[in-house]
Amino acid sequence: MEPPEDLLREARDAIGKAYAPYSGYRVAAAVRASSGLIYRGVNVENASYGLSMCAERVAIFKAVSSGERNVKEVLVLVESGEPAPPCGACLQVIAEFGDDNTMIYSVSKEGSKVRAWRLSELLPHRFSKEYLRPAGQK
Ligand code: THU
Repeated sequence: MEPPEDLLREARDAIGKAYAPYSGYRVAAAVRASSGLIYRGVNVENASYGLSMCAERVAIFKAVSSGERNVKEVLVLVESGEPAPPCGACLQVIAEFGDDNTMIYSVSKEGSKVRAWRLSELLPHRFSKEYLRPAGQK
């Protein structure tokens, strides 16, 4: 399985900018928005550990704050040998701007291992805006 070449190139270019002095686990993400533009992000940690932010959310928030509202593909590049799926919080954020068929690729740094999923596989049931409507309203 080949990950999208352009997303991988962007993530490879970005991973050196990851700020991960506490975990030592550097991550980069590249997302393709419906406009066709690619946005990238890295993880940004904090001495107050819980404030650390994942690469995927950085990339998606960059896209949304640039005016995008729809994410088509997400690629995650991890420094370890094992390609990992996004964390639960990132999946929920991907769900806000994607759909069941949004593709998520994970690639290990050497590129030797690749995994791919549809969002529906990783987050089959999710909280969404439909649940915010008062009972009886469609
Ligand atoms: N991290 C990401 O950036 N994306 C993921 O999908 C999983 C975890 C970051 C958060 C933290 O900076 C480090 O990896 C270790 O959890």
